[in-house]
Amino acid sequence: MRRPSTRFVMPSLAIAGLLLAMGRNVLADTLGDAVQGKLLYEAKCGGCHSVDSNRIGPMHRNVIGRVPGSVAGYDYSPALKKLGGVWTSARIDRWLQGPQKLAPGTKMFLTVAYFRDRADIIAYLVSVSSHSQ
Ligand code: HEC
Repeated sequence: MRRPSTRFVMPSLAIAGLLLAMGRNVLADTLGDAVQGKLLYEAKCGGCHSVDSNRIGPMHRNVIGRVPGSVAGYDYSPALKKLGGVWTSARIDRWLQGPQKLAPGTKMFLTVAYFRDRADIIAYLVSVSSHSQ
């Protein structure tokens, strides 16, 4: 019986290993870590927001899949009320890179510079929402 030549096997193993390593990083980066995200949320967002009550900012339960500016009893800026669409993970990622760029005139100014922190915070927001996208 002929054995497969090492000229074929070795590069295939190398490529398989590389894909595995890349897959792991891509997964970790896009999914985020909700446990770490909860800590970041409390530290960075908790001064103004909470999950279940309106404070300086609107409450966040079910924010994923929600129409921007739609929580009853919260006094939004005109900028957020006219934004339209729904909050998705991708849109909140953009929001956290510059609320004033996404909705000029909004009352929120905080940005989160590091993409990994944003991914973790968004994973936490997904965990308190019934929608996951
Ligand atoms: C200094 C106060 C403050 C901090 C800190 C803050 N926010 Fe906000 N946030 C607001 C205010 C005020 C609004 C309402 C904006 C408006 O009406 O224009 C808001 C609105 C939002 C909205 C839109 C919700 C909706 O119902 O449409 C999201 C999402 C949001 N904030 C996420 C976050 C996250 C995540 C953090 C932490 C990384 C954070 N915010 C930190 C004050 C803050």
